[in-house]
Amino acid sequence: MAAANTLNKVQEVREVTRLERIGAHSHVRGLGLNDDLEPRQVSQGMVGQLAARRAAGVILEMIKEGKIAGRALLIAGQPGTGKTAIAMGMAQAMSKDAPFQAMAGSEIFSLEMSKTEALTQAFRKSIGVRIKEETELIEGEVVEVSVERPATGTGAKVGKLTLKTTDMETVFDLGQKMIEQITKEKIQAGDIITIDKSSGKVSKLGRSFTRARDYDATDSQTRFVQCPEGELQKRKEVVHTVTIHEIDVINSRTQGFLALFSGDTGEIKSEVREQINSKVAEWREEGKAEIIPGVLFIDEVHMLDIECFSFLNRLLESDMAPVLIMATNRGITRIRGTNYKSPHGIPIDLLDRLLIIATSPYSEKETKQILEIRCEEEDVEMEEQALTVLTRIGLETSLRYAIQLITAASLVCRKRKGTEVSVEDIKKVYSLFIDESRSTTFLKEYQEEFMFNELTGAGDATTMEVS
Ligand SMILES: Nc1ncnc2c1ncn2[C@@H]1O[C@H](COP(=O)(O)OP(=O)(O)OP(=O)(O)O)[C@@H](O)[C@H]1O
Ligand SMILES: [Mg+2]
Repeated sequence: MAAANTLNKVQEVREVTRLERIGAHSHVRGLGLNDDLEPRQVSQGMVGQLAARRAAGVILEMIKEGKIAGRALLIAGQPGTGKTAIAMGMAQAMSKDAPFQAMAGSEIFSLEMSKTEALTQAFRKSIGVRIKEETELIEGEVVEVSVERPATGTGAKVGKLTLKTTDMETVFDLGQKMIEQITKEKIQAGDIITIDKSSGKVSKLGRSFTRARDYDATDSQTRFVQCPEGELQKRKEVVHTVTIHEIDVINSRTQGFLALFSGDTGEIKSEVREQINSKVAEWREEGKAEIIPGVLFIDEVHMLDIECFSFLNRLLESDMAPVLIMATNRGITRIRGTNYKSPHGIPIDLLDRLLIIATSPYSEKETKQILEIRCEEEDVEMEEQALTVLTRIGLETSLRYAIQLITAASLVCRKRKGTEVSVEDIKKVYSLFIDESRSTTFLKEYQEEFMFNELTGAGDATTMEVS
């Protein structure tokens, strides 16, 4: 199985994808709870919504203890009440190893793969496997390095490396590759180094304490370490964490690990998955691997249809399921793909398996605090009065609209060479960009001038023909 030796590469890929853009939720740095899981009013970028945050914290604790793998949670509430923000806060607060996979319900309807394949991949991206490998290392203090050209002047260089621990000393002959590495790393007497025996990689751990007085050989960044004890050759355990999906991709013959870079993984055969499952189970039994259930977050879950929901039911029952978190702002509505209505557009049998967290609208004070945090996040200075006006706008229209106005107002402010956003700036952008309710009023007034309006029928293409 190719998994183990390709793992190093996978590790690198994951680190690259961890970079995040500044976005709607970039101010959220966690759930803002104290050690007793009590939410602080304002902390880690989160404001208010205390009950929901506490509930999310309890779930998070259960996830960390590995207690509720395969369970599901629904965050339900009006638009703009911080459902997505809370999920992002949970993602930030999860342990670094545990995967957090976020997707929107509508992503299922991609043409590249079937809905069930997309869901399966999402599930498998949310399960981590921590794999332990033993490698052999040589670790010691360099007593002497010597690299020489043969006396004839031509041919390969030859080298010797003398390493010691507090208990022993050995001379090693150096091959070509090792000589290159040692020259590149500028290894010299007094360095403490490790050599990975399988890959031949040389790394410098620091300078030996006994050399601490050689001032000319050191600079301020030099790290001093003790000369190692015992044997020169050691066994060390290294740990990689990858997701099951990554192992799937690497081992599916048509894809190869390059697919991980392009994200273009296509469908994966179920035989491959079965093989991986049994391999992972084997590793677990041998104590080589550990399963780390993560979180799959499906936002706007009402976009899923009845087939997806019943597939979810089934996936949740598999023994390697992650914790599923969903969010929706819909009330009682039609389940996609049926003519039945149900709460949140989710079938009752799935609802029955969920824990539900409700979010509620913000007070004036909370709205103001959120706007303040967003100003800080976007590096915008705002006069107190302007912030008060913006808060009122937020309460009367929507929090999102008010957040959007921050960037726009700060641009207007910069154009007039101001440094602090004033009430005037806010007024200006408020008149430039209308919000949803003003837009609706406007449309109602002038609907006749638009195409395809439904309220009166006048102006509609079909009615035009009749008249
Ligand atoms: N309690 C909060 N603390 C800090 N920021 C918040 C809080 N609640 C919401 N926000 C911010 O307000 C904006 C809107 O919130 P969010 O997108 O989470 O709403 P939502 O409940 O997911 O809405 P929708 O149902 O429309 O998806 C986001 O930028 C979010 O980060
Ligand atoms: Mg949302």
